[in-house]
Amino acid sequence: MFFASDNTSGAPPEIMAALLNANEGYDRSYGNDRLMADVTARIRHIFEAPEAAIYLVATGTVANALAIATLTPPWGAVFCHRHAHIEMDECGAPEFYSAGAKLVLVDGPHGKMTPDALAQTLATTGASGVHGVQRGMLSITNVTEAGTVYTPAEIASLTKRAKAHNLPCHLDGARFANALVTLGCTPAEMTWKSGIDAVSFGGTKNGLLGVEAVIFFDPAHAWEFELRRKRAGHLFSKHRFLSAQMAAYLENDLWLTLATRANAMGQRLGQGIAALNSAALTHPTQANMVFANWERGGHARLQSAGAIYYDLRPQPDGRETARMVASWSTTEADVDQFLTALRG
Ligand SMILES: Cc1ncc(COP(=O)(O)O)c(C=O)c1O
Repeated sequence: MFFASDNTSGAPPEIMAALLNANEGYDRSYGNDRLMADVTARIRHIFEAPEAAIYLVATGTVANALAIATLTPPWGAVFCHRHAHIEMDECGAPEFYSAGAKLVLVDGPHGKMTPDALAQTLATTGASGVHGVQRGMLSITNVTEAGTVYTPAEIASLTKRAKAHNLPCHLDGARFANALVTLGCTPAEMTWKSGIDAVSFGGTKNGLLGVEAVIFFDPAHAWEFELRRKRAGHLFSKHRFLSAQMAAYLENDLWLTLATRANAMGQRLGQGIAALNSAALTHPTQANMVFANWERGGHARLQSAGAIYYDLRPQPDGRETARMVASWSTTEADVDQFLTALRG
C-alpha cells in the first residue's frame, strides 16, 4: 500500500525493454542520439508544435529551474501559487539557477491561483522602480499540488493577465499526463493554445526511471537552454538512455494509458474515502492525488496495516490530513485494502 507518491512505483516493462534495446551497440552522445530525433518528432507532433525545442533532463526540479532561468532575468519576479512545488520543495533551485529571481506568491483555493489574486499581485510588483524586483514570468502547475486540475480556460485566464505585462508563462507538468487524461483535451489546448510558452513535461511520476522533457514553443530559447543545461551539469553523456525511455513512453500512447490507470485508482480511493462518515476530502480529487482528513485512530490502523502515505497536518480537533497518490501500478486491491484499514 504505497501511496506516498507516484514516484514510489517502478517502471513498466515497455520502458525496461526500451532501455535494453538502447543498450545494443553504439550511438552518439550528449543528445545527438537517433532516439532523441524520434522523441523530438513525436513531441512536436503530439503538441502540434512543429518548431518546438525539446530537451530531456532527469529531474522535475531541474526541468523547472532551468526553464525558469531561461525565461526570466535575475531581477524578475516569478509569480506562482503559494503551495507551488517550486516554492515549497525545490530547495531554492529556481532562485539558484536564475541567479536570484524572486518567487512571488499568489493565493487561491485548492492549489489554484485565482485570476484576481494574480492580477492584484501583478499590479503591485515592480511599483517601486529600481528598488524592487520587476515582473518576470508566470509559473503554474497542472495537476496542481492540491491534486486539482486547471482547465484550459482557467489557464488562459491566468496567462492573459501575465501577457498583459508581456510575461512568459511556464507550466510545471510533473503530472502532465494525469491532467490531460482528466481534461480530455489536447496537449496543445492545455499549453500553447492557452498561452503557455514552456512546459516541464513529466515522465518520472508516470512510470519513467527519471526523465522529464522541457519544451519551448518558441525555439528562440533553445540555445540559451542548452548552455544552461550543460553549465548546470544536466546534459547526460549517455543521453540515449533518457531518449529511449521518453520514446517508449510516447509510443502507442503508453503515457496516457499509464495516467488513465493512475487516475482511475485515485478516483477509486477518493470516492471510497468520501463515502466514509469518519473521513472528509479536503480538496476535490480530480486526478491521481487524494487529500483527506480523519481521526488519529484511523492513521494508527493504516500505519499498522503497512500503509505508506504523507500524514500532513495534525489539527486541534485530533484529525490529521493525509496526502495519498496513486500511480500507474496501483491496483484495485491496494486501494480496497487501504479503505478497509481506514474503516476499521
Ligand atoms: C508538481 C511537481 N513539480 C515538480 C516535481 C519535481 O520532481 P523531482 O522530485 O523529480 O525533482 C514534483 C515532485 O514531487 C512535483 O510534484
